[in-house]
Amino acid sequence: KSKLNTNIIGKKILCFETIGSTNDHAKKIAKESEEGTIILSEEQTKGRGRMGKVWHSIKGDGIWLSIILKPDIPPYHAPIITQIAGLSVVIALNELGVKSSIKWPNDILINNKKICGILTEMSIEIDRIDHIVVGIGMNVKTLDFPNDIENMATSILKEGYSLNRLDILSRILEKFEEFYTDYVSNNDIEKIANMCKTYSAIIGKDIYVIKGDKRRKARGIDINKNGNLIVEYEDGSSEELVSGEVSIRGE
Ligand code: BTN
Repeated sequence: KSKLNTNIIGKKILCFETIGSTNDHAKKIAKESEEGTIILSEEQTKGRGRMGKVWHSIKGDGIWLSIILKPDIPPYHAPIITQIAGLSVVIALNELGVKSSIKWPNDILINNKKICGILTEMSIEIDRIDHIVVGIGMNVKTLDFPNDIENMATSILKEGYSLNRLDILSRILEKFEEFYTDYVSNNDIEKIANMCKTYSAIIGKDIYVIKGDKRRKARGIDINKNGNLIVEYEDGSSEELVSGEVSIRGE
């Protein structure tokens, strides 16, 4: 049995057999919940991904969870929470012997295929953050994916690793607490940005930058001190991309 060594994150964990979306539920109860409360479900019937996409969350196949946070930070710093989550997942997996990397800003990859996605949603009240919900979805035992994502998605088991979901979960939550508490007390965005750069799957790689229905070939150059991605286009021009505004595709 794995023990959770955290003080805030996961101090309270609400477990469901089935739920629509853990993010939706977290948003519903966030106001009256303590920071660090977690919603966990064996299955989601209305799992949501970024940009209105469906997130397949088959019973028992993965880790589908949401964390409720109440950081006292300005709303424009919220993307750093996504990066903290990504970092926690990557470092947790690497410590468990699974080599993974971050596709900025919010996908975790193994062998260039997506194993985990992060969906951060915030509620603002008069220019301050009231709460943030960080949703993490990780494919652990999934072997069959729907046709449209089959080439892009994978799972821990499909990549040849057999890990226990509770071991992965507790490791992620411990890392998250470490990076999150450090961030809220020191506000050192650059430190997180640098770590994300170390684990980046796209620095020095050819990628596509997608904005709306426009797609442009580029190369990942850097993750700067604000956590933004610097890309260079084929014509030699470069751009600083802020997460939330763009989506990145591998070649
Ligand atoms: C993405 O890659 O587009 C983000 C996927 C996020 C999925 C997780 S699973 C737990 C939480 N609840 C949801 O409905 N979505 C997130």
